[in-house]
Amino acid sequence: MSVDPRHPWDSPSVQIDPLAGMCTFAGQTLPDPLPADPFPLFQSWLQMSADVKSQPNPNAMSLATVDADGQPSVRIVLARRIYPDLGCIVFFTNYDSRKGTAISASHRIAACFHWDHLDRQVRVEGVATVSPAQESNNYFTRRPLMSRVAAWASSQSQPLANRQQLLDANTLAEARFGVTGGDERVKSMTPEQVSAIVVPRPPNWGGFRFWVSRMELWLGHSSRLHDRALWTRDLTPTPIDGAPGYTGGAWSVTRLQP
Ligand SMILES: Cc1cc2nc3c(=O)[nH]c(=O)nc-3n(C[C@H](O)[C@H](O)[C@H](O)COP(=O)(O)O)c2cc1C
Repeated sequence: MSVDPRHPWDSPSVQIDPLAGMCTFAGQTLPDPLPADPFPLFQSWLQMSADVKSQPNPNAMSLATVDADGQPSVRIVLARRIYPDLGCIVFFTNYDSRKGTAISASHRIAACFHWDHLDRQVRVEGVATVSPAQESNNYFTRRPLMSRVAAWASSQSQPLANRQQLLDANTLAEARFGVTGGDERVKSMTPEQVSAIVVPRPPNWGGFRFWVSRMELWLGHSSRLHDRALWTRDLTPTPIDGAPGYTGGAWSVTRLQP
């Protein structure tokens, strides 16, 4: 078994065979001096992960929320937009889901991207606001037809008696939008017929804009002398694109001990 010397594995109950030589990027360091704005660097890391194609969802981030009782919870969502000029990241979800309900109670959120094969991590913290309706509509209409239909079938995070209950709800949604038969039915339709079917965005489904006030970029090293840099800034509530948003002040940046 090849073992990455940085991460010796010592539990016999689970067999993990870390890839030898995975620390390809160990010699790399963050720029010195550090850039004033972390967003371009963050975007370049995301692009790098997308380019090497070693994980299906390079834009996956662990999203942490805190509910009204102060209980944290975390799950993966996909970052669908990054607006470096606005300083926000956009993800889409069901507003009535556990995360959506938590965000209504506390708009403070955090997230973490991990690109294991690149030895990189990006941590972000800030506040969430509901996306302008136009942003949610634009994104929703670009989703595949059956994904749009399914958004009507699932009351995300609510209990289900059994799987059939969800399938039944989906069948009802398919009938409502004239696509009974699902994917098979869609495959038999012309592109014009598919695009003629209108599935509006459910009112409880849409985007959140994640306004970043704190971002940390981490670059791993075999010696554990990892390279870390932290950018922080204030956020000021400001209507943006006709919806609540924030403007960020100037970033402060510092290196952190690993
Ligand atoms: C790779 C991956 C991508 C996901 N992307 C999303 C997403 O963009 N939006 C979303 O609502 N859920 C997404 N999920 C599902 C969430 O992790 C989660 O199960 C769901 O949102 C319900 O979470 P909640 O009950 O905490 O609200 C994704 C899961 C995985 C594993």
